Amino acid sequence: MANSNTLLPPVEHKRAGSVDIVLGVQWGDEGKGRVIDLLAKDYAVVARFGGGDNAGHSIEVGDRKLALRIVPSGALVPSAKLHVGAGTVISLRTLLDELDALGKIGVDISRISVSDRAQIVFPFHAAVDQAMERARGGSAIGTTGRGIGPAYVDRVGRIGITVGDLRNPAALTEKIRQSMQAKASLLAGAPDAPREEDIITDTLAAAKRLLPHVVDGVAYINEALERGDNILAEGAQGTLLDVTYGSYPYVTSSSTIAGGACIGLGIGPGAVRSVTGVVKAYCTRVGGGPFPSELPNAEANALREAGREFGVVTGRPRRCGWFDAVTARYAARLNGLDRLIVTKLDVLSGLDRVGLVTGYRHADGTPAGVESMGEPGLQTEIEYHPGWSENVREVRQVKNLPSAARAYLDRLANVTGVPVALVSVGPERTAFAA
Ligand code: GDP
Ligand code: IMO
Ligand code: MG
Repeated sequence: MANSNTLLPPVEHKRAGSVDIVLGVQWGDEGKGRVIDLLAKDYAVVARFGGGDNAGHSIEVGDRKLALRIVPSGALVPSAKLHVGAGTVISLRTLLDELDALGKIGVDISRISVSDRAQIVFPFHAAVDQAMERARGGSAIGTTGRGIGPAYVDRVGRIGITVGDLRNPAALTEKIRQSMQAKASLLAGAPDAPREEDIITDTLAAAKRLLPHVVDGVAYINEALERGDNILAEGAQGTLLDVTYGSYPYVTSSSTIAGGACIGLGIGPGAVRSVTGVVKAYCTRVGGGPFPSELPNAEANALREAGREFGVVTGRPRRCGWFDAVTARYAARLNGLDRLIVTKLDVLSGLDRVGLVTGYRHADGTPAGVESMGEPGLQTEIEYHPGWSENVREVRQVKNLPSAARAYLDRLANVTGVPVALVSVGPERTAFAA
């Protein structure tokens, strides 16, 4: 790389290994889990850098459907080590259940490590999350109710409890008491508020099981890079749910964008080699908040049924709409996207026409940008593409897709300014067209 400053010597990166980031471009559920399962064989480590059990990453193998919540989606690829990074928030119960479930299907769970700096999400965080949602009434965010927001609030409020705290039972017990004390007024209104003594007992028991997996995350990741290992950084949620740049306040509470991978894994930006965005060929959203390209129910139903658009975590029907190029271009900038992997192309088979939102307009007809997303009366500019009737699930080469499907993909690349590197054409593990 050319020297960028005439006063300083040229920069030479010493790291031998690199980080490739794979993340969601929309509002989550883009199919990241399957993509990471596919790519994992080329990496020494697959590492989650944010979120918690609000995520549900599914991988289908034959009739078996695995929905990973905290463990990275490289779980079925034996050569990959799996790391849960410092940027995550962890429900100990969910993680232990997941380890049990993976162990039962023959996955070697000794290759799973958890950063000591990750935060713990306690049942009282979930109770606070649910109480706050009730209090918001009609403007509820529609969270997953898992306590994700309150756990991140505790981290920045500097009263959070980390996975590393599991090493010291006496101090841990005191921290749990203090944390619950600080939330007493919020918990008083929660009908099913968890009891302090139960939480302490459960946490101490969980600590015994989890401690063999706890590592110094900064050393773990950076020593891997120094050895020359490559790391696949797995995003959770999606760009439009980012706490800073998403459709605030209808977002999650973590940094879901590419920058979040550096913070969430404890690496310098120079280690990042590429950023790949996973994007559905249409668009979905779970929970409240603006969704400019959303379709009215009658039309959305066709996509919802064909795409089985029901949440992995909560079972809620996902809201469905057309691909939104305005938000995709925004995501390309925020993440520095190098390429796209388009999923669920098969779901569009059989539609007479496929819509694509290319712009927004204010109610008075003047052009609007992504920042106007929640504005009353916002209009969308939609271009319609001819549909195709062929089933594409067996297609493995993009050149063999129906010409209308290829034209639509070309348009997606063109309108977002990011090349399409791979296309997913079905839920099965190998259903990708290159
Ligand atoms: P993630 O959170 O991004 O990992 O995505 P989810 O697993 O929550 O949701 C994606 C859903 O779509 C899952 O049920 C996948 O099995 C399914 N899926 C992923 N890719 C495709 C695809 O190309 N075609 C179809 N029909 N389903 C897909
Ligand atoms: P994956 O990783 C889709 C949404 C919730 C809600 C908002 C805030 O499977 O793509 P939270 O519980 O995080 O405080 O909820 O974010 N949400 C997701 N939507 N996929 C996800 O994860 C999500 N994680 C959170 O529905 O609107
Ligand atoms: Mg999901």
